[in-house]
Amino acid sequence: MKNSADLLTGINTTGTPHLGNYVGAIRPAIEASREENKSSFYFLADYHSLIKCHDPERIRRSVLEVAATWLAMGLDTDRSVFYRQTDIPEIPQLTWILSCMTSKGLMNRAHAYKAAMADNEAHGRKDLDKDISMGLFSYPVLMAADILMFNAKKVPVGSDQIQHLEMARDIAGRFNHTFGEHFVLPEALVDAETAVLEGLDGRKMSKSYNNTIPLFEPEKKLRKLIMKIKTNSLAPEEPKDPETCTLFAIYKAFATPSELKDMEKRYKEGIGWGTVKQELFEYLNELLREPRQRYNELIEAPGEIDIILQKGAERAREQAAPFLDKIRKAVGIQRL
Ligand code: TRP
Repeated sequence: MKNSADLLTGINTTGTPHLGNYVGAIRPAIEASREENKSSFYFLADYHSLIKCHDPERIRRSVLEVAATWLAMGLDTDRSVFYRQTDIPEIPQLTWILSCMTSKGLMNRAHAYKAAMADNEAHGRKDLDKDISMGLFSYPVLMAADILMFNAKKVPVGSDQIQHLEMARDIAGRFNHTFGEHFVLPEALVDAETAVLEGLDGRKMSKSYNNTIPLFEPEKKLRKLIMKIKTNSLAPEEPKDPETCTLFAIYKAFATPSELKDMEKRYKEGIGWGTVKQELFEYLNELLREPRQRYNELIEAPGEIDIILQKGAERAREQAAPFLDKIRKAVGIQRL
């Protein structure tokens, strides 16, 4: 099908991007964005962020930081289409049409909604829907519209999003069955190779564990964070096991195979934790030096980011506008 995206994914705009986001989502997407003959779409899911955050300044700041991060890290915005969800008015319009093709029962089964109800139950609240907004409840429909709007074939996501992809397929299938074949059924692309990075305390690096290393901390702060990474209490000269070490796990996500081999050898020979930390800091700092500078420049010039995002939105709407027209006609909404 023409006018379809080979690859499309949404980027959450809550919080400051960290090393784990980079390794798990940003780096693979940037690599894919450089591929020729593949159309890839990346967008900031800022409508979605309203579900969790009602602080306007945090929303604005987060969109700015996330956009600056992707650009500073080298997203190819000529080859890929990079835009804000809220710049595409066709998306909420499609969301409504799809809502009318989505059974409420399907949404009742969504993990995020069920988790929120379970939380109310655990707290002994009588009303299991307490503080659950319609935004949270119908989140999967908006996500389906994001994807179906561009007839995306493959959607790179974390494994927690597989259910949302199944729901998107379900909704698309129901629409196609009723109104004819308009939508491509999207597939989740969950890459088992993609590293899950450990955080300061050895658990998965995640904003909710408060154990992250933000990507663009100033040098001094980056060093301080790395010094805080948890290790065991083996003395400097004692042999150490790289496989169970958070420092090594983080190094592994960036180093080349030969650098890794070398480090492994030094672990077995006995290397002090202070030395590993210092070297990990220097390694990451070198890697982040240039992007950090670009990032800081972009944060100071949000107008430049706006221009890039506007261009992306224009390109996205070249597909979205005529396609939505077709969908509206398919359901009977048109000039009389
Ligand atoms: N829900 C996704 C997440 O939490 C983000 C997202 C929103 C998304 N819309 C999307 C991902 C469309 C892929 C396609 O990670």
